[in-house]
Amino acid sequence: MSGDLAPETRDALRTAVSRASPGIREGLERLVRIPSISADPACAGEVRRCADAVADWLRDAGLPEVDIVAVPGGAPAVIGRRPAPDGAPRVLLYAHHDVQPIGAAADWETSPFEPTERGGRLYGRGAADDKAGIAAHVAALLAHDGAPPVGVTVFVEGEEEIGSPTLAAFLAEHRDLLAADVIVIADSTNWEVGRPALTTSLRGIADAVVDVSSLDHAVHSGLWGGPVPDALTALCRLLATLHDDDGNVAVDGLVAGPPPAVDYPEERFRTEAGVLDGVELLGDGGAGERSITAQLWTRPALSVLAIDAPAVAQASNTLVPRASAKVSLRTAPGDDAGRALDALVRYLETHAPWGVAVSVRRGIQGQPFAMLAEGSVYDAARAALTAAWGTAPVDIGVGGSIPFVADFARAFPDAAILLTGVEDPDTRAHGVNESLHLADFEKACLAEALLLARLGAAS
Ligand code: BES
Ligand code: MN
Repeated sequence: MSGDLAPETRDALRTAVSRASPGIREGLERLVRIPSISADPACAGEVRRCADAVADWLRDAGLPEVDIVAVPGGAPAVIGRRPAPDGAPRVLLYAHHDVQPIGAAADWETSPFEPTERGGRLYGRGAADDKAGIAAHVAALLAHDGAPPVGVTVFVEGEEEIGSPTLAAFLAEHRDLLAADVIVIADSTNWEVGRPALTTSLRGIADAVVDVSSLDHAVHSGLWGGPVPDALTALCRLLATLHDDDGNVAVDGLVAGPPPAVDYPEERFRTEAGVLDGVELLGDGGAGERSITAQLWTRPALSVLAIDAPAVAQASNTLVPRASAKVSLRTAPGDDAGRALDALVRYLETHAPWGVAVSVRRGIQGQPFAMLAEGSVYDAARAALTAAWGTAPVDIGVGGSIPFVADFARAFPDAAILLTGVEDPDTRAHGVNESLHLADFEKACLAEALLLARLGAAS
């Protein structure tokens, strides 16, 4: 499937993508204005409105069958289809229309749901993750006048950011609608501005909330303090044991893989992550010599996401009777998220000090994923990315998770899965001031248009 495209075809698609670009930008901005936050029950109507907007867009892009589908209790997904021409492969184009909450509203330079261009980037919640993924699929369709030389199913999910809780049920019920030979998941990142990536592994995810209590009511910190352990100190001591003194993960029983071949220079990593001067990096990546890509891609990571405890401004002089923390675990490819969560729960249950009461509530679980990115479909993808970006893609793992990928791989074991994306290291997905690099976005659109042409030409 990697036979070269005729230069005329390539040029025609390049022209078509840039001609479609203003409309694509408008459509993307329309979606970014909709606060489709799947984690917020108050936004259910907005998630629905976003699904409607995506469905309208897919119809305008020329797909003959477009439906909004949900399983009971699930968020609305959009499915748009055009049957495959005889003998051509069926290609599933995935993205998600839900977004993460906005975080600290005051820290946004411009309003999260008012798309704004600054310095060649489009700012807004979902401007990249993952409304630009939807836009890239529409751009690829439009470049082919709505009728690419392959079968297409565009599948735009509405609950990815909460771990796709009903996707397995969705697949069980609508498997036939989604069946494909090639699955393109536009929800990952590129290597750096100007350099594309093909993602070949994802970490899994698991989290838990640990509740610690030591008293049955709050008591005066002067009258009772001394002999009585407060729950917040006990919780902090427990959390402090999650890493050893070198910063390596201390929980036993988690899988780690070998360091990847890709080098991510420490200085570049520190700058892109925004690590403050003087702050040390955790751990040693395993082998004694640090590998940033191993720590990010093939090893587990633990962090504390949140603590429920009295706010400083409301503190009274009392010993805190109970406190809770949400602990997040990223699991390496090859691990099992359920088993890893068992290990974390067991650890939390057995490492609190001073006999305080501990209970652990299990949270989400999403499987990691790794693939062997070899064969004609991957050759076609690499060729398309190289032609669109003017430079070859880097094979990368990522530390983030897209839990349903493992479900998809199980449901369609013969399909080739391509993890592409529109993000770059400065995108700040999930953070404040999320943004999309507009010039790279157009390259991602062209790459997808070229990919569809190549997959069609090979059949
Ligand atoms: N698009 C991201 C994951 C991602 C980001 C993959 C960058 C590759 C590169 C996705 O939307 C996401 O954030 N997933 C969540 C999953 C969770 C809510 C179950 C994550 O990783 O936190
Ligand atoms: Mn995403």
